[in-house]
Amino acid sequence: MQIFEEIEPIRAYLDDQRRKGKSIGLVPTMGALHQGHLSLIGASKGENDLTVGTIYVNPTQFNNSTDLAKYPRSLEADIAQLTQAGCEVLFKPSNEVMYGKTDNSLKFDFGQLDKVLEGKFRPGHFSGVALVVSKLFNIIQPHRAYFGQKDYQQFLVISRLVEELKFPLQLKSIPISRETSGLALSSRNQRLSEEGRAKALLLVKSLRFTRDELLNGQNINDVRKEIQARFDGTPGAKLEYLELADRNTLEALQHGEKESAVILIAGFVDDVRLIDNMLL
Ligand code: PAJ
Repeated sequence: MQIFEEIEPIRAYLDDQRRKGKSIGLVPTMGALHQGHLSLIGASKGENDLTVGTIYVNPTQFNNSTDLAKYPRSLEADIAQLTQAGCEVLFKPSNEVMYGKTDNSLKFDFGQLDKVLEGKFRPGHFSGVALVVSKLFNIIQPHRAYFGQKDYQQFLVISRLVEELKFPLQLKSIPISRETSGLALSSRNQRLSEEGRAKALLLVKSLRFTRDELLNGQNINDVRKEIQARFDGTPGAKLEYLELADRNTLEALQHGEKESAVILIAGFVDDVRLIDNMLL
């Protein structure tokens, strides 16, 4: 795997590859890689001649400095996993390379899309995501870019970004990788104890319960009360939101229309913030 830390050398390398007719797939990550990230690498490898993985913990998408400081970092293990997965190129820039001396004042506003759910609880988060992803699209200029359904709202925001800014690339959404227990893989799971991981199953169990109740005709407000009680009854667990929303606009819904709705959940388990979602 070729590793680049600066913009000019990777641009020159990829320009050359594009001239040779090679297609390029991009998989942006913040590192602390797991099988979910590697499934994105695998999807890219299946559709492109070259896969570029990126590892960069982007400060502008963290609205909480403790969360940024505690974000897990495991560069050596990440490089070994990417090499093993057959990723051909890694871009791992520094803050200096990505932001230089700018004051990070460039902001994005996606209307309702970045004000609800994650956007409500993490103000400015999606502006930071859109900014770093725009930079990566401009640096790498991929033919295709891969994102996980795990970050459901993020995918919708990036879709809007691509549409509005006319990035000439194809976006791909990859299904959520889960442990056999059902727990959605997440870099943040590394911060959980054995007991915490067991408690974290509350998220996926809540999603399954909600889905079944909605399909039985219940409305989301009644289901939420039950889920809230389950969180309240679990020491160290805190529910931030459980919402039923339109799959494309994230507009809140009362009843689930199969085919067009998604259930999204966020909460804390022992001070670790986790998210998950499920299509109805
Ligand atoms: P990160 O959380 O490292 O995730 C990188 C990519 O992996 C995202 O597209 C995410 O949706 C996907 N992913 C994470 N867990 C997954 C799982 N269990 N199954 C499938 N895909 C999964 O998301 C980010 O980084 C950042 O916001 C980023 C897009 C890199 C911008 O900084």
